[in-house]
Amino acid sequence: MDDGTLQTNAQAAALKAVKGMNDILPNESALWQAFYRTAEYVLARHGFAYMQTPILEHTQVFVRGIGEVTDIVEKEMYTFTDHLNGDMLTLRPEGTAACIRAVNEHHLLHDGPKRVWYQGPMFRHERPQRGRYRQFHQLGIESLGFAKADADAELIMLTHALFKSLHILDGLVLHINNLGDAAHRRAHKEALIHYFNQHHAQLDEDSQRRLHTNPLRILDSKNPQLHELIEAAPRLADYIDGEAAAHFETLCQLLDALGIAYQRNHRLVRGLDYYNRTVFEWVSDELGAQGTLCGGGRYDPLMALMGGKDAPAVGCAMGIERILALYAAHFQAPQNIDAYLVYVGEAAQKAAFALARDLRALGAHIVMHIAPQEMQSLKAQMKKANQSGARFAMILGDDELSKGVISIKNLRHEHQQQTLPLSQVNAVYDHISASYI
Ligand code: HAM
Repeated sequence: MDDGTLQTNAQAAALKAVKGMNDILPNESALWQAFYRTAEYVLARHGFAYMQTPILEHTQVFVRGIGEVTDIVEKEMYTFTDHLNGDMLTLRPEGTAACIRAVNEHHLLHDGPKRVWYQGPMFRHERPQRGRYRQFHQLGIESLGFAKADADAELIMLTHALFKSLHILDGLVLHINNLGDAAHRRAHKEALIHYFNQHHAQLDEDSQRRLHTNPLRILDSKNPQLHELIEAAPRLADYIDGEAAAHFETLCQLLDALGIAYQRNHRLVRGLDYYNRTVFEWVSDELGAQGTLCGGGRYDPLMALMGGKDAPAVGCAMGIERILALYAAHFQAPQNIDAYLVYVGEAAQKAAFALARDLRALGAHIVMHIAPQEMQSLKAQMKKANQSGARFAMILGDDELSKGVISIKNLRHEHQQQTLPLSQVNAVYDHISASYI
């Protein structure tokens, strides 16, 4: 029992991260940052503004937003009672419901539609495996207040542009489907219940349960034994007409005009309740079972369902870990350290600090040698300089200091060494930053 009096002799057990929750280590961070940079650039070019909501919300935000009879709400949410005031809180499992809560709360649509995006950690208590984590990161994009199919097309065009910029587009397939409006789904649902009731004995336990709660989810079943039965089930597409059918037709025409290839996937229903009309997913076959990189669609009823003023919307979110699993093959971390600064002696140390400060102010990337304990020999410091990946070593020894100069050694070309006056910071900067090799 841990009573606070820790063992004195035995070593304390090493602490570990929570299962399914990962650290992003320094050797991976350049990849993450490059992804964010590219995404920010593409999003800004499409007129989307960044917003951020808290990681914790009142549980009702997700129960109402995502739907009570969904895998997420039924079994994947990290929900707890705040001991201080009894509030029921949930670590956000996705961003859309939270985003709409914020949009309603701050009346963001009072002066017209908005295009927004967000990113950050999401939490789902799923069984961890490659590409599926309990804390994962999403980048979400929402077009709010736009009713027509041009907004759906713009969103797909944006994700297409982003995946192209990341050089991962080639292996991806875009699946799209039309879920129609509520009346279409009601008619289809009745037909489905009738059909599956006729084949009740063939259904697995999960599907028998869903028959009475959410029969649409049976179509999403991964059970191969149900495959044939599902293939022959009544198709929603046959129950959709009028504006909802025309909406989808316009989207397809816009995608055709843009040359964006897609597959009409009648089985695509998505795991969240808020969708109507357009739904889509970008899928890779390189990531095994967790191949969906990005999913989304239109969710016109959600704003009113969450207590706001009725307004149409369309959006999507991508799993950043899954994108990076593909992007890593196309990414090379930049070596952007200009110079590693070594020095010997206390007087040189002071001059070296000042030089590093002045060069950084000009824009140079400088790493200074910091000795683990005592001042180290020039040889030991030069070894570190060579390992650092810097293009130059700058050397400030006794000799240099007495002459008021700095020696600059090119670490990628042997025998090239230059000496410049310490007082001429601009000349030193030009030398280490301009000579690209
Ligand atoms: P979602 O399909 O639940 O949609 O999640 C979107 C993406 O997040 C997935 O396609 C996947 O790449 C990633 N993802 C989901 N769960 C995990 C996990 N456990 N580990 C790693 N990655 C995961 C939504 O969340 C909707 N909010 C999307 C949306 C936005 N619809 C309209 N606007």
